[in-house]
Amino acid sequence: MGFDHRKYVAFQPVQKTDRRWPDQVIQHAPTWCAVDLRDGNQALVKPMTVAQKQRLFDLLVKLGFKEIEIGFPAASQPDFDFCRKLIEENRVPDDVRIQVLTQARPELIARTYEALEGAKNAIVHVYNSTSTVQREKVFRMDREGIKEIAVNGARIVKSHAEKQPGTNWTFQYSPESFTGTELDFAAEVIDAVNEVWRPDQGQPVIINLPATVEMATPNVFADQIEWICDNVKYREHFQISVHTHNDRGCAVAAAELAVMAGADRVEGTLMGNGERTGNMDLVTMAMNLYSQGIDPTLDLSGMAEITDVVEACTEIPTHPRHPYAGELVFTAFSGSHQDAIRKCLSTYKEGDKWEIAYLPIDPRDLGRRYEEVVRINSQSGKGGVAYVLERDYNIAMPRWLQIEFSKVVQQAAETEGGEVDSDTIHRLFEEKYLAVRPEWRLRTYDLHRTDDGVTATVEFGSERLSGEGLGAVEAVAAAVEKRFDVRLAVEAYEEFALGEGTNANAMACIRIQVNGEPHSAAALAEDTTSATLQALLSAVANHVAVTETSASGTATA
Ligand code: KIV
Ligand code: ZN
Repeated sequence: MGFDHRKYVAFQPVQKTDRRWPDQVIQHAPTWCAVDLRDGNQALVKPMTVAQKQRLFDLLVKLGFKEIEIGFPAASQPDFDFCRKLIEENRVPDDVRIQVLTQARPELIARTYEALEGAKNAIVHVYNSTSTVQREKVFRMDREGIKEIAVNGARIVKSHAEKQPGTNWTFQYSPESFTGTELDFAAEVIDAVNEVWRPDQGQPVIINLPATVEMATPNVFADQIEWICDNVKYREHFQISVHTHNDRGCAVAAAELAVMAGADRVEGTLMGNGERTGNMDLVTMAMNLYSQGIDPTLDLSGMAEITDVVEACTEIPTHPRHPYAGELVFTAFSGSHQDAIRKCLSTYKEGDKWEIAYLPIDPRDLGRRYEEVVRINSQSGKGGVAYVLERDYNIAMPRWLQIEFSKVVQQAAETEGGEVDSDTIHRLFEEKYLAVRPEWRLRTYDLHRTDDGVTATVEFGSERLSGEGLGAVEAVAAAVEKRFDVRLAVEAYEEFALGEGTNANAMACIRIQVNGEPHSAAALAEDTTSATLQALLSAVANHVAVTETSASGTATA
């Protein structure tokens, strides 16, 4: 009985017949305002110290934010102190506007202006709650009473600013809980506030529309924003800002659709820290723009530094799947994804447009490496394993060996139950294919070519054998067949020169049938013929080893 959907009431959609935002395409970044130091900070188990705030503020400036909400100085002494520190120590660049929040109450507004004394540029952000539920249940006030709080706040904000003319003031008003406010009433309050501030007469004004609680799908929020843009006075003279929270998990989408619907400015936090499920994540929204070829006007290329600082200041770890920032977001474990990425990357050249399957952006743009893209576990296929061996060890396996070796790696992954790193993959390859028993180690070979074919002499371990055939492999195979009384049939072999980074110059891979049983081996050597002949000997050695083991097993039994 406790889990009963009938307890909830569906959000009523906006009745709109002139909807234009669905046809809009975002062409440029909005004005950003980072509210990490205020909204984000208010949501922390342990609010930031002044030192932490300073560290995060410096990061925000470095990333390119020009508007930063630094606190709620009238409500918190550390916020007041931090505000004073920034101003007195001249820590705010001239092109950055600090923003502070205050409720629309006279004594709090007065204290807010005290905190801002001497600031060059500042945004005073005043708010009161306007939603139906807050009016009726929290404040027990009618619409007029709530509007009066806003208008009175606006008047006091204006009069304090007049007494501190040395600062470039911007006024910001938020009808808090806007998403739960009737649109006509929200517009009425906004108009009343602007009637005091008069943005049309030159006063810079921001009207911030918060989804204090995300209550509906993002399209409904976009409808609300477009409706307000169409129905408020002085629209062309002030900025519309949005401030979305993530209760339904759509804060970024809501902000994006709001920009399509006419919003000029977006408030949010790095990595989305904030009340409950958080604020709109600035990193995700900015990177979404970047991935569409739009300059986000923020430099997020040092993502590791961003996550380090945010984690240190909020004490909240970054989820490994966090868009653009998480440890695993550029990693493919699945075989088919790895294959596709490998193929796309192999033809990608610097300067090309980015069209790589499964990677919406180039990980290197955020300071990540291609090395992290392909990681191997039991879900990975031949492509991924081959990619890792080639990338890290210059070993380019032929396709038939990829198929065979990926099963070896998969078994190891299943046994270990997790990821198999590059070192382990290489070790498995060495153990399975490259290991040479001393008694099978090729010492010398001699090839004598005649019109009929090749006579080959090989010395390995204590053996010296000669055989004839059409080519070197066939000749050595004939010699080995005779000496060990086995039947050999070469199924496939491939030899190739190795790139830099190894001691050997050549590698060969071979798959042969020995008495009808398949054996594969590989060898590294200074030249391709040595590598091929050693691979052949190693493959036969595997067979002999298996035969010996089963023979001694039988004897023991
Ligand atoms: O979420 C909210 O409504 C706020 C306001 C104070 C803007 O943080
Ligand atoms: Zn908020």
